[in-house]
Amino acid sequence: MKQARIVLGVSGGIAAYKSCELVRLLVKAGIAVDVVMTEAATRFVGPATFQALSGRPVWTDLWDARDAKSMAHIELTRGAMAVLVAPASADFMAKVACGLADDLLSTLVLARRADCPLLMAPAMNVEMWQQASTRRNMRTLAGDGVRLLGPGSGDQACGETGDGRMLEAVELLGHVQALAAPKVLEGRRVLITAGPTEEPIDPVRVITNTSSGKMGYAVAQAAADAGATVCLVSGPTALPTPAGVTRIDVKTAHQMFEAVKAQVAGAEVFIAVAAVADYHVKQYSEKKLKKDERHPGLTLELAQNPDILAWVASQPGAPFCVGFAAESHDLLQNAEAKRKRKGIPLLVANQAQDAFGRDDNEITLIDDTGRHALPRGSKSSLARLLIAHIAELLPPT
Ligand code: CTP
Repeated sequence: MKQARIVLGVSGGIAAYKSCELVRLLVKAGIAVDVVMTEAATRFVGPATFQALSGRPVWTDLWDARDAKSMAHIELTRGAMAVLVAPASADFMAKVACGLADDLLSTLVLARRADCPLLMAPAMNVEMWQQASTRRNMRTLAGDGVRLLGPGSGDQACGETGDGRMLEAVELLGHVQALAAPKVLEGRRVLITAGPTEEPIDPVRVITNTSSGKMGYAVAQAAADAGATVCLVSGPTALPTPAGVTRIDVKTAHQMFEAVKAQVAGAEVFIAVAAVADYHVKQYSEKKLKKDERHPGLTLELAQNPDILAWVASQPGAPFCVGFAAESHDLLQNAEAKRKRKGIPLLVANQAQDAFGRDDNEITLIDDTGRHALPRGSKSSLARLLIAHIAELLPPT
């Protein structure tokens, strides 16, 4: 097999030092790396460092005459799995959002073919990240199909704190490996629910839960990376839409049910990751409820919501159904009972208090053959293992 190769673009930012580690990890994972640096990047890290780590020449100049027969800005991306720009500075992202091409890296980004995706790992000061112009450029890039990886949040090199830190090298490695993921769901249609639902009480109040949507979004990304056509029906979350995924936003369990009913025809796999509210408020108040000093207590009457997963599983010719069970106690016994009750072939069991809102998780897959415990890991890596397991259980097309 031909060795996988990526182009790593390094633009000017202190996070360039983390990209040295990234090159080391990529090479260790068997992925060849061609490093292309902007002029500003060379002020932070010397090309010789990247050359030593990648074992390949480093490119910095659009007018490089090393290989007279070919042009670096064209040739480097041909046959490459992807271009990853890490760190991607605010300036470099603005440039790409506008389609400018005035140095080797921006020219190479513009000259790449559609089969070479562009990934960017933003890295900048929190104020730069929050600036209206940067937000606008982000939306443009996302709309153009650029995969934005991060940024993370925390202490920054400038001494300030907040969003804008480049993701760690090991996380970026995970994203690159995902691209190289085996296309085990090629040509399959997958429908996924994710996030919490919101059940309104009055115009300003809702009943909801603390689901962040992270696991469902990771599953959607992993399914898309595996070659599936993915539709994600999502409750309210603060997460960006996974690249290559169609997203339908809903709020209530009823809206989620309607969206699923509208999308389920033709789906071969249904993965219910959403933390759907089991009940809604029976009497929604059109007017905001006022505090009544005479009655210190307030009782809301609730009515049950439809069970979306159980409904899909009970349909004739139902897709392969996967459920999630978030349990606070007696995890595996409860999960096994839930799998039977819902009539589904595969259920993912996780400890509710461990899973909600976190970036990592520990899950056990329960199917007809028994329990399969997966080691604790990031939600992205677990999502990839789940997709591989589903692919093995799916009947052939
Ligand atoms: N689910 C669903 N529709 C609902 C409730 C749950 O599709 N109205 C799905 C969830 O997306 C998840 C699975 O069912 O895949 C299990 O959800 P959970 O809330 O843990 O189970 P419940 O059946 O609601 O049981 P309980 O709340 O008693 O644990």
